[in-house]
Amino acid sequence: MESIPELLGVDWQFLVTTGSSVGRVGNRPLVHLKLVLGKEDSEESRKYVHLELTVPEFYKLFAEFQKMKSTMDRKKEDMRSPLTLTKTCQRLRFSHVRCPFISGHIQRLNHSASLPLELRDLPPEQHLKFSEAICKAFSIKDFLNYMRIFPHFLSEEEESSLMSEIEPYMKRLRYEFDHWDDAIHGFRETERKQWKSENVKILEKVKKLAFPPSVSPLQYTHILDLAPEGYIKPHVDSIRFCGDTIAGLSLLSSSVMRLVREKNESESVDVFLPRRSLYIMTGPARYEFTHEILKHEKSAFGGEPVPRARRVSVICRNEPTSPQT
Ligand code: OGA
Ligand code: MN
Repeated sequence: MESIPELLGVDWQFLVTTGSSVGRVGNRPLVHLKLVLGKEDSEESRKYVHLELTVPEFYKLFAEFQKMKSTMDRKKEDMRSPLTLTKTCQRLRFSHVRCPFISGHIQRLNHSASLPLELRDLPPEQHLKFSEAICKAFSIKDFLNYMRIFPHFLSEEEESSLMSEIEPYMKRLRYEFDHWDDAIHGFRETERKQWKSENVKILEKVKKLAFPPSVSPLQYTHILDLAPEGYIKPHVDSIRFCGDTIAGLSLLSSSVMRLVREKNESESVDVFLPRRSLYIMTGPARYEFTHEILKHEKSAFGGEPVPRARRVSVICRNEPTSPQT
């Protein structure tokens, strides 16, 4: 008779999804559980059981565990048929035991459901939060010329269309975490010149808004994929390699970009970049301020948390304006 495996470990991960590649729909928080079963001393005996639970399923399981606990506490000695984990799982009929487990504890696949209500559908001028010191130098209205925000620039279909072209290449790359001195932590990136015709149309719309006819956009579009725990440290884009305008689309996640004036760091602007928005940075915002994308732990806008998931940005830049002397 095959012996019953022991429970060697449990790992879990919390997710919020508004629809996933594995077919679930709806705005729901989920918990992924990974049970490691087997015999302590035998590598070959290891089995991994993956469970994906919605909140009601999690409560059901939790209630079962509580019952198990009270039964065990009360009748430790004369428990004739102990409830094994296997039986419990069979009884609950987890129909979706699937989905490879990703290690780590917090991963948000698609978090728009968890954006605070206060941050949904804001007009462009409310996408900027000024520090006190910067109010003396700029008005929000002026600054909006240097940091233009188009909140619903992409439709969901357009976002999917861009991702379907980016993902097959991107997923072959590994996220880079270890270069502490780099401007970016937890990222992978590429550049792309040729796009499918539907995506050419999207990028043309971006370029038309960002660059006047006399300006030449760079032929290559930069694609930067930040892991959920990735972030961009403060930097100014090299004036040797790119011109006066940076136009960025945000895919898959909202985020907060912070601009800090180099000559006076108390002058800063937090910019709320919702998923599927476009920003166009130029003039003083491009040259006088560093820009950064805040890490998940610090990602908040006017006190409201802006949870960070994987974020893919598609960035169009133009040729450097004139050769530097
Ligand atoms: C960069 C950068 C911003 C973004 O790649 O230099 O600042 O929106 N990216 O991803
Ligand atoms: Mn940059």
